[in-house]
Amino acid sequence: MSSGSVTCGIMALVETSLDNASSRRVSARLSALQPSATLAVDARAKALKAAGESVIGFGAGEPDFPTPSAIVDAAVEACRDPKNHRYTPAAGLPELRSAVADKTLRDSGLSVSASQVLITNGGKHAIANAFAAILDPGDEVIIPAPYWTTYPESAALVGAVPVIIDTDETTDFKVTVDQLEAARTSATKVLLFVSPSNPTGSVYSAEEIDAIGAWAAEHRIWVLADEIYEHLTYDGVPLLSLPARVAALGDRFIVVNGVAKTYAMTGWRVGWMIGPEDVIAAATNLQSQITSNVSNVPQRAAIAAVSGDLDAVAEMRTAFDRRRRAMHAGLNAIDGITCALPLGAFYCFPNVSGLLGRSMRGRVASTSAELAEIIIDEVKVALVPGEAFGAPGHLRLSYALGDDDLAEGIGRLTSLIADAS
Ligand SMILES: Cc1ncc(COP(=O)(O)O)c(C=O)c1O
Repeated sequence: MSSGSVTCGIMALVETSLDNASSRRVSARLSALQPSATLAVDARAKALKAAGESVIGFGAGEPDFPTPSAIVDAAVEACRDPKNHRYTPAAGLPELRSAVADKTLRDSGLSVSASQVLITNGGKHAIANAFAAILDPGDEVIIPAPYWTTYPESAALVGAVPVIIDTDETTDFKVTVDQLEAARTSATKVLLFVSPSNPTGSVYSAEEIDAIGAWAAEHRIWVLADEIYEHLTYDGVPLLSLPARVAALGDRFIVVNGVAKTYAMTGWRVGWMIGPEDVIAAATNLQSQITSNVSNVPQRAAIAAVSGDLDAVAEMRTAFDRRRRAMHAGLNAIDGITCALPLGAFYCFPNVSGLLGRSMRGRVASTSAELAEIIIDEVKVALVPGEAFGAPGHLRLSYALGDDDLAEGIGRLTSLIADAS
């Protein structure tokens, strides 16, 4: 063994691929990584808008509201305090870790200590940290589809194997225990569980959560519970946390969450992962080598957010609920589109297979990806094709935009498709 591989574990990996290294510019792992399709659609919509086009953006997964002013005020104050101009602990400000632990007990009924919380650069970063902390190459991660586009990429980046289980409208896009059991192998390490779901808006019931949690506990499978949309449920659907409900999981769970969706703070980039102390310590170690602390001013803003009340999200929820119904009705009125009423998050995920093969303004889409292209080209409406979520034949439309824009976008779609033959 060379001295390099003794001092640095990653050298062993590097040495195994030295033979081909000189002929490659970009690493094999990053060459295989797909860009975020949702960010790409959003970037295209923003570029068209900047060029003066009237674009309706159903692509972005972000609230259209400004961040509540009390949170912004906390950030302004934090900017003026020199203590926030310095490095702080890699795991996050102790006050924020503790505020997140308190908030988790308040909202989910899950009791954790501050040392079980790692503050990350958004929920996306928490997912990457979590996978890096518990997965080895070859470990399998069960990911029900339609899935948020980041999950499989993030798992594959650490050499793990995403095992995709397809779901469809017949179960409201929810995975069943029978499906999970059929996918389980001796290499299964983690189940990715998200409710409310992006992209489908589906929400699991208490019975479904309990059954899935019991299955994971029985087979000693870790659950990574993504709870970023916890406060966005409609029609009286309760907020339910799998790790809080299923004590039998023991400490084999990680919760991912953040301020982005609840407090309209997508651009502030503060999220967190909650898990057992050894896993949090490992992820903190990783973070200390890669990013150090999350920017202090957004962390201070996040303290104000999670320790404050939930009035602002209640107001957003009322607006989203109205838009959800408007979008659902508008989509179902279009010949060739069928859409279930989503119960959470802020997305509709209609089935558009009835539009494939039809001619629209002289163009024919044979896939939902081609359909999304035609829609943005012809009527300047940006939406994300189901292919990005492992579910071709669908489109994802966010209803986190103004009521007038929503009506305008659905109107444009209706007129484009009305001409289809
Ligand atoms: C399901 C899900 N999880 C996590 C995130 C991460 O959010 P952020 O990194 O903005 O905190 C998103 C963002 O779109 C999401 O949709």
